[in-house]
Amino acid sequence: MLSRRQRVGLLSACAAVAVTGAAVLTAAVASAAVTRYEVESSPATCDGVIESNHTGYSGSGFCNGDNTAGAAAQFTVTASAAGTATIAVRYANGATANRPADVLVNGAAAQSGAAFNGTGGWTTWATATLTASLNAGSNTIRLSPTTATGLANIDYLDVEVGVSPSPSATASPTMTASPPPGRPAQCTGSSPITCHFAVSPGNYTVTAWIGDRASAGNTSMSVEARRRILPAVTTAAGTITQYVFTINVRQPEGQPTGQGGTGTPGLSVTFAGPAPRLSGLTVQPASNPLVVYLAGDSTVCDQMLAPWTGWGQILPLHVAAGAVVANYSDSGESSGSFLNNSALFPAMRPLIRSNDLVLIQFGHNDKSTTASTFRGNLTTMINQVRARGGTPVLVTPPVRRRFDGNQLDATARHINGVGVNLPAEMRSLGSSLGVPVIDLTAKSEALVESMGPTNSAQLFLRQSVDGVTDNTHFSEYGAGRMADLVVEGIRERNLSLVSYLR
Ligand code: GCU
Ligand code: CA
Repeated sequence: MLSRRQRVGLLSACAAVAVTGAAVLTAAVASAAVTRYEVESSPATCDGVIESNHTGYSGSGFCNGDNTAGAAAQFTVTASAAGTATIAVRYANGATANRPADVLVNGAAAQSGAAFNGTGGWTTWATATLTASLNAGSNTIRLSPTTATGLANIDYLDVEVGVSPSPSATASPTMTASPPPGRPAQCTGSSPITCHFAVSPGNYTVTAWIGDRASAGNTSMSVEARRRILPAVTTAAGTITQYVFTINVRQPEGQPTGQGGTGTPGLSVTFAGPAPRLSGLTVQPASNPLVVYLAGDSTVCDQMLAPWTGWGQILPLHVAAGAVVANYSDSGESSGSFLNNSALFPAMRPLIRSNDLVLIQFGHNDKSTTASTFRGNLTTMINQVRARGGTPVLVTPPVRRRFDGNQLDATARHINGVGVNLPAEMRSLGSSLGVPVIDLTAKSEALVESMGPTNSAQLFLRQSVDGVTDNTHFSEYGAGRMADLVVEGIRERNLSLVSYLR
């Protein structure tokens, strides 16, 4: 509890800030106390039952999750400022085997398959410690088991925010003391707030001051064709956080051939969420960002129309200012059609600059392509990217949801109609040409099979939720999981984007 003198001091500091109109968060706090979040206390949730039959827990119980993949425990934690948090999970696992869980922070995987090893008994409690970047304000931390045994029994989270801000946490959101310039004339509406800038195609530095002097907010940010930039962030009344991103503008803004609509020339920025609050937005040309070009098909592309969502639309959530995703992927394209359509590879190639990354994912539409043609098409792209000074990266195609028992069938794994194992061709071509390979086929196969024939439906489009059933194309959730796997591969291959990941 603060003394009266301290409280008066804080109030006058806030008043001074309000007078200048610049209640901007300046940096992650240097140190903070540990806050405990008990799993049995709302708004925490437990996909199972709160029980108290095994002693040694804290509070009034623990979460005994259902023994199934995806049966999660979720916590809502508050951070006074954005930064790196140390998260200690207290748990008991009386089984002998590890019960791994994905740790999702605000819906994005902060860690895949974190270990919750056996503790020797259900009354023997242990702590697993993780670190993750949190937003200022409210954050969700979800422990989602990846195997059919479900979670260990979960007792609480101890969260310490801002102890050692990581470089990526400070890279974006970027927080400085520049005062919010006020909402520009280019913005209209209140929920959502939509803004439009008449700029030419290119890369732009977009600075957004999110929050409001007078009222609390909960604001997400997206640009252009449903491209996700910032998950919903909470701001208290009087708190305004400055974020900086690099944004790619193309025309058409979605798929390069205009499938699904061509959108509006220029840059559209949308602030949505339960209570969007915006106190400034500026757009300036970006100087020399690291560009990550995406050359792929409908599972990657910027889909204009919901519910279809490509993983390339969610990838920008993971990319900090100074780097930018330019998504040239297009529905229905094969390795050959992408190379030959003037709106696709020929349009993208001359834009590639030294050290830019080009992620190449084909296979879904190479249903009758021979091995030699497939390798030839990919080799042509690789050589032309290298001729521009760029770094090509092969991404094997994500699986389809087609089960044979508990395992995916050959078509799901992209063994095509003429018997070519397309992912295997990409892996062998990568090793012979020295091109890094992100094996998204293997990663997505492991994910889909671990979720199983029923539970994996949520990764794809479902009639009951999306109005259409499609076991090739992803839901927004599934596209997000694919983007997480691509990010995991980017880290494993130590690509130059790693220093810009957020
Ligand atoms: C036992 C134990 C539970 C535990 C469960 C499990 O039933 O009593 O607390 O959650 O095993 O294996 O998940
Ligand atoms: Ca259980």
